[in-house]
Amino acid sequence: METKSKSSFTGSIGFVLAAAGSAVGVGNIWRFPYLAARDGGGLFILVYIVLVVTFGFTLLATDIAIGRKTGKSAIDAFESVNKKWSIVGKLAFIVPAIIITYYTVIGGWILKYFVDYISGAAAQTAQDGYFTGFITSQVSPIVYMLIFLAITAFVVYAGVDKGIERFSTIIMPGLILMVIGIAVFSVTLSHTDADGVTRTGMQGLAVYLIPDFTGVTFTKFLNILLDAMNQLFFSLSVSMGIMITYGSYVKKDVDLNKSISQIEIFDTIVALLAGAMIIPAVYVFMGKEGMTSGPSLMFISLPKVFMSMGSIGTVVGVVFFVMVAFAALTSCVSIMETLVAGVMSKTGADRKKVSLAITVIAAAASVVICLGYNVFYFELTLPNGAVAQLLDVADYISNSFLMPVITILTGIFIGWVVKPQWIIDEMQLNGEKFGRKNMYIVMIKYVVPVIMTVLFLQATGILNIILNVIINIIG
Ligand code: PHE
Repeated sequence: METKSKSSFTGSIGFVLAAAGSAVGVGNIWRFPYLAARDGGGLFILVYIVLVVTFGFTLLATDIAIGRKTGKSAIDAFESVNKKWSIVGKLAFIVPAIIITYYTVIGGWILKYFVDYISGAAAQTAQDGYFTGFITSQVSPIVYMLIFLAITAFVVYAGVDKGIERFSTIIMPGLILMVIGIAVFSVTLSHTDADGVTRTGMQGLAVYLIPDFTGVTFTKFLNILLDAMNQLFFSLSVSMGIMITYGSYVKKDVDLNKSISQIEIFDTIVALLAGAMIIPAVYVFMGKEGMTSGPSLMFISLPKVFMSMGSIGTVVGVVFFVMVAFAALTSCVSIMETLVAGVMSKTGADRKKVSLAITVIAAAASVVICLGYNVFYFELTLPNGAVAQLLDVADYISNSFLMPVITILTGIFIGWVVKPQWIIDEMQLNGEKFGRKNMYIVMIKYVVPVIMTVLFLQATGILNIILNVIINIIG
């Protein structure tokens, strides 16, 4: 029988860039800036950074160490340690299986805007109703989704080192340059509107960075905390099997401590820079009101901002959408790779066959999500109060429901069943210093399970019911 050597990243840099490629996605460039704008600017940033170095680090270290230690992708990793806990691996497989169905759809939207910008149709994208018109149309969103999915599949098909690592190594440095470039441009902007009011990018930067405590009550702060926490999970791609799978491709001589810090820093810097590029620009052309536009930011507000910049806006728009497309692609690659690795190990089939099969299934499921804006349109109020279509429901189930459950179970499993030392040993495999060791133990045993339970109760609407009861009792 032919012995297959296990796929791996060629070294530490390849691993860090691939993992950063997974982490840096639309979450950083689109979601982080609008959350920061909504949640008190610097206050949100402060809370977020504290969470990254505590929570984010703990979960990233846990996933990556589980992966490297067991050498298995998520679906098998838990089972190989303890049969009774195989359910966590299965749940962790379901999350990327759901996420891929809508991430490709959003990827398609980004490609569409990119194509509009390079084909001279930039002005159209700034018109009212353009975005809604596009996503509710029947054919075009499907076509762009399929193109996005095909590029993703191509990279995964090519393998871990020749596909994923090579792709990320080319794209990630370019991405950083583009974010820095647009951020610098953005803070140097200045514009006088019809009422003669001049706003500058530097003022916008101040709005973004200086903490705004006005109107911050305990409940509001709790909400900011929960927003930051949710954002963190999504942004670092933790608790969904992805970093376990990537961890299983890391060679034993790589210093995990260093790599994990680098991934944390990379992901956070891109999020911070994305805010510095988007918020000042929106502020200059739309004032403070424009900054609270929420999810419509990327596809509705930004095109208007680019339009207001005049002809240079088209160039900035092209660079912007290329950058977001790259960020989304490397993330989608990691989602698909996790699915492919899981199915390969369960069936023993080869990468090429499995990649093709997953692509076909993902395409079919993503078509259904696209049709959620026309054929299958509905308005459903989620337990957390948001009104949702199919895409939002998929996002809710994977991120707000399953992810907290997986994180709670992982915390209990590592903290109490196999014990933190199991991870610590892997972190110190080559005699490295695990600097945040004591914090890690406290976090994984106590803080992670408790806080994640609160997050879960909040997402399911149960927390509100409890808080109301408490308020009634007290008041
Ligand atoms: N981390 C990515 C982002 O910030 C998104 C992502 C989610 C990637 C889930 C992989 C898995 O956008």
